[in-house]
Order: sequence, then C-alpha cells, then structure tokens
Amino acid sequence: MLKETLLILALTATALAADYDPYLDIPFKRLKTSAERIESHGYPAETHEVETEDGYVLNMFRIPYSPKLGNAGQAQRPAVLIQHGLFSCSDCFLLNGPDNALAYNYADAGYDVWLGNARGNIYSRNNTRINTNHPYFWAFSWHEIGAYDLPAMIDHILSTTGEKAVHYVGHSQGCTTFFVMGAERPEYNAKIKTAHMLAPPIFMGNTTTDIILAMADYVGSPGLGAELLQNQVFLPMNPIIQRILDTACSNDPYLLNYCKILAMMWGGDSEGNLNVTLLPQVAETHPAGISTNQGIHFIQSYVSNEFRQYDWGPKKNKATYGSEVPPSYDLTKITSKLYLYVGLADESANVKDVSRLPPLLPQLEELYEIPDETWGHLDFIFAKQVKSVINDKVIATSEAYDRLYNN
Ligand SMILES: *[C@@H]1O[C@H](CO)[C@@H](O)[C@H](O)[C@H]1NC(C)=O
Ligand SMILES: *[C@@H]1O[C@H](CO)[C@@H](O)[C@H](O)[C@H]1NC(C)=O
Ligand SMILES: *[C@@H]1O[C@H](CO)[C@@H](O)[C@H](O)[C@H]1NC(C)=O
Repeated sequence: MLKETLLILALTATALAADYDPYLDIPFKRLKTSAERIESHGYPAETHEVETEDGYVLNMFRIPYSPKLGNAGQAQRPAVLIQHGLFSCSDCFLLNGPDNALAYNYADAGYDVWLGNARGNIYSRNNTRINTNHPYFWAFSWHEIGAYDLPAMIDHILSTTGEKAVHYVGHSQGCTTFFVMGAERPEYNAKIKTAHMLAPPIFMGNTTTDIILAMADYVGSPGLGAELLQNQVFLPMNPIIQRILDTACSNDPYLLNYCKILAMMWGGDSEGNLNVTLLPQVAETHPAGISTNQGIHFIQSYVSNEFRQYDWGPKKNKATYGSEVPPSYDLTKITSKLYLYVGLADESANVKDVSRLPPLLPQLEELYEIPDETWGHLDFIFAKQVKSVINDKVIATSEAYDRLYNN
C-alpha cells in the first residue's frame, strides 16, 4: 500500500515536472509562488525586492502576522529571517503546511516572518547591472551570498520593521552563509538576536554524501574539471551528473524522481523520516537554481577539510586574495548567539565535522544532537516530526530571548 501510494506520487510529480522546464528561467511556469502558497492557507503574504550592493535583486517573502492572533497580530512583533539551503528556496519552509512548517509556526507564535532567497535561485535571478544571460552573472559562490545577500536582507527587514535585530534560522547552506557573514561582515553580529544553524556544513572532511564523493576527483581541486564547470548555472540534466544521480538512486526505483532531487539536496536516497506527502511539492519547487561554484565550493571544503574561501588555483588566488592558498574564515569573529543542531544520520553535515566547531566559536550557546539516530540532512525541514523535534525548540529559544530582553 505504501509503495503504491509512493508510485502514484512519483507519477504525479513526473506529470507536473513535464509541464515546465525548471532549468531555463524563461518562460518558467511555476505552480505557485511562496506568497501564493502562504495566502492559500489564509495567512497574509508580502513580496519584497531587495538589491544587494553588487546589483543582485532578491525576492523575499513575508508573513507579517498570523490571522490566528486576531488584533494582537497588529502589534509590533519581533522579526525572524529564515534562509534555505543549496538547490532550495523560500518554498521549503512552507511545504509542511500551516500546522507543521517553521514559517507558519513562527507566525502563530507572534513573529514577523521573513523568508530569504539567495542570488541565482528562481526568485532571485535578476541583477540591475549584469544581464542574467552573461556568464558573469553566475560568477558567485556561497561566499557572496553570505557577504552580500544576507546583510542586504537583514538591513531591509530592520528598515521596514523598525526592529534593531532579527532572529535567524538557516538550513544547510543557510548556515554556511551565516558563518561567512559573521566572519566577513562582523558588524552584522550585533543585528542578530539568536542564530539557529540546522545541519551546518562548515567543515566537511567527514562527509559521506555520494554526489560529493563522486564529484570530488573532478572538481574538488582547481584544475580542468573545475574550469569547465565553474561560473555557470548548474544544470541537473548534465549527463555526468545524471549518471552520478542514477547510481545514488539505483536502489530506490519507486522514488527515482524524488530521489534525484533529494540526492542533489544532499538528502541521500532514503525516505527515512521524510513527510512523503509533500514530495510532489518538493518536485514542483526544486531544484530552485544555483551557480556551479556553490557546489564546487562545498566539494572543495570536503577535499581540503578546511572552511575557507573559493579556491581558484594558486595564480588567481594570489591575485584575488594575496596568497596562493585561499584564506580561512575567522570563526572567532562570529559573536552572535549561536545554536547548532546536528543529525546523527546526516551525511553532509556530519556529526564528526560539526563537533570540531564548539572550541572555535566564542558565543556558542548550544550544540544540540537530535535524539534520533535516523535524523538526516533534510529531516530538519521535511520530517514528519519536524514541528516537535525542531520548530518548537527553535521558537521557544527565540521567545526566551525576547522575554529576557523585554522585546
Ligand atoms: C530586475 O530588477 C529591477 C529592479 O528592481 C526591475 O526594474 C526589473 O524589472 C527586474 N527585471 C526582471 C526581468 O524582473
Ligand atoms: C573528521 O572529524 C574529525 C573529528 O572531528 C576531525 O579531527 C577530522 O579533521 C575530520 N576530517 C577528516 C578528513 O578526517
Ligand atoms: C506533510 O505534508 C503535508 C502536505 O504539505 C501537510 O499537509 C502535512 O501537515 C505534513 N505532515 C506533517 C506531520 O508535517
């Protein structure tokens, strides 16, 4: 019965997927935007455009208040910025629906909720100075997302709401970019109340994710492979990538379509704790678009076992950074109140790698191991138990802070 249901879901997703081409932006027929998803559940939604200092135009979505709060919804409320992972977008924090998804849970708890979108994803594919068809548009990694996109989005929230600081929740790359911001733009630490890092891929030497291991030989170090692939939009239908994904998913014929998407999002090939009901919506909304440099930069982290800037090779490194080896991010500059969450079955943000962090982080409040041996990378957003295991704890921590500082 379960297998039949999954098969029907897989067929539905295939039919939906055939309806549009998610890899070429125009014309792009998306079923619903984040704002439409939010409104379809009876919550108010706003769409905000934010321009970064290097001209990228990002779309943010806002749930200004929960209709469940009545008049109390109109009062000044603390703000939270929620930031997605690699291959993802603002939709991912909505797919578990109004009872279980983090964005709605925060709104119902009295928060002003903002969902970010990194440059290059389907909601943020515009630049006021560079044509999106120009290869230079794609010459960015998660370094730029952390150094420019997050600061621009935080400043937009603060100037719109009149708040002095925000809570931050990131999943996966949403953590990596937060670490980059904290180290490279340390003045932003003061604009953060609490920062929740769900499945943070910072050090990655112990990663066991198939797609990363399979690509490490080709692009993990500067050379021809990286030169051929870098500075472009990542196309999942590339034959080499398809072959890697076929191998990663070969044990899972029923879930093949989803598996490829989930494998790319580093979820591995097993459904585990995933809420399978939302998989068709995952297929509708993912992959949401990245630059190949983001993937290459993560694979470099795996090969180098270091958390450092993009490796262009000794010559260009020397010209760009003034040293042949890319500089490491200085974690001691991250002075926000940090909460790290790690899953024991997470292959990409491996518990061994996350456990290297505490001695390096001056303001670490907590390293929380999810008490479930089967908790994987995507369970932090898509698990059936995500509300009780993750969302309730994250929100309670934010509320405790706001109570303490009378906010
Ligand atoms: C890109 O952003 C600019 C500035 O907000 C806007 O004027 C323009 O219409 C946008 N272009 C597209 C294709 O959305
Ligand atoms: C793996 O994790 C251990 C324990 O944190 C760490 O010492 C080591 O540097 C990591 N990387 C590799 C490649 O072993
Ligand atoms: C699973 O996803 C469906 C579809 O979005 C949603 O309605 C449901 O509440 C989710 N269940 C849990 C337990 O998160």
